[in-house]
Amino acid sequence: MKYNVLLLGSGGREHALAWKIARSPLLGEFYALPGNPGINALAKGVGGSAGDFDTVRRTVVDKHIDMVVCGPEDPLAGGLKDYLLSCPDVPSDLLFVGPGKDGARLEGSKDFAKEFMSRHGIPTAAYRTFSADHADEAKAFLRTLRPPYVIKADGLAAGKGVVISGTLEEADASLEDIFGGRFGTAGTKVVIEEYLDGVEVSFFVLTDGHRWLMLPEAKDYKRIGDGDTGPNTGGMGSVSPVPFCTPGFVQKVCDRIIGPTVRGLESEGIDYRGFIFFGLMNCGGDPYVIEYNVRMGDPETESVMPRIASDLLQHMAAAAKGDLSGEKIEYSPQAAVTAIVVSGGYPGKYGKGYPISGLEDMDGLTVFSAGTGLKDGRTVTSGGRVLAVTAVGDSLMHAREAVYSKIGNIRFEGAFHRSDIALDMINWKDNG
Ligand code: AMP
Ligand code: GLY
Repeated sequence: MKYNVLLLGSGGREHALAWKIARSPLLGEFYALPGNPGINALAKGVGGSAGDFDTVRRTVVDKHIDMVVCGPEDPLAGGLKDYLLSCPDVPSDLLFVGPGKDGARLEGSKDFAKEFMSRHGIPTAAYRTFSADHADEAKAFLRTLRPPYVIKADGLAAGKGVVISGTLEEADASLEDIFGGRFGTAGTKVVIEEYLDGVEVSFFVLTDGHRWLMLPEAKDYKRIGDGDTGPNTGGMGSVSPVPFCTPGFVQKVCDRIIGPTVRGLESEGIDYRGFIFFGLMNCGGDPYVIEYNVRMGDPETESVMPRIASDLLQHMAAAAKGDLSGEKIEYSPQAAVTAIVVSGGYPGKYGKGYPISGLEDMDGLTVFSAGTGLKDGRTVTSGGRVLAVTAVGDSLMHAREAVYSKIGNIRFEGAFHRSDIALDMINWKDNG
């Protein structure tokens, strides 16, 4: 059986998924909605947006799609899976990789996620939730905590809904800001939680609702500047594997976090078939959940995909059918490093439409398109994060060397990249 696949999304994560899917002998026709110039070299682009459910439905029907793979969270939180499967013209055996609206609450509502974790005994920071009309109680609760203070808008805020404040004055001001509408309706409720002191790491599983396959773990680099300085971004790079993820640590993640999460979903009647991304903090060797996402991570996916040796399309089909029992995931023994080339000014204001050169001088590396477009037949910048440059090697050090030996070949007006991706992990023994 071959699968006609429709991939939803347009970023570096989706290009990395497309790159992996395109290597599968099980792939039939391949479409991307809307895709980007990199993705569309592998899949036929369909105009429109993944948030326009009717366009997705029409594409599924017209192109005889067997499997939909949803890259971003918004369509999932909006109930795309439920919508498609309720349309009379969509075949009832359509395979959909991603949860329905119920499962997507793991990411769509931090309050839901925190309550879910406490119901199932999953380690996470202690917390309380407050609505805007209880701002005084929220401030009183802040006074029972030690700094720094972590305040999160409840809803989806494009990964930006978290404010960490060093002092009570700053925390009070952030609270007022969020209740005042800084994150729109995402901030009508806030979660205030204990600060977790540790090192972050991202784990990923593909689940059929009962069983799960663990993908290679990864670590992303969120700040704009070397040494983790400056403002937060959508991600400036990633590595996989992560040196402190020893078999013992991974076992704790499975026993304390992944197992209870999948069983928790099952016991609550949530038929979750798709990826779960566990944003974890390693606090002195013990994992805690910072957040769940109901999709793969960006830019982690760019380092994770090259490390999967088995057929991800086959695994996704089995997960979406609800039966992973025959599947076994295999990892490549190689390490992967990804550095992102961003537009000058990002994550603040930046220009678009600058021609990109040097893409042909990247032999041996994989370059994923994150924010690129086409203008008069040329590849140009079209976003803050423009390209993801990924290399594999027999160690993080070699993969890192490969990335930095060539990343400078990529040129466009204002191009910027961090120069220290992977260094902390290569030196982990010295630091840890
Ligand atoms: P989130 O959107 O929940 O992933 O939070 C964004 C970032 O804020 C995380 O990646 C962490 O770096 C940081 N963060 C969130 N919650 C905590 C916490 N309880 N303690 C320390 N850092 C946190
Ligand atoms: N790299 C973090 C995320 O995708 O949310």
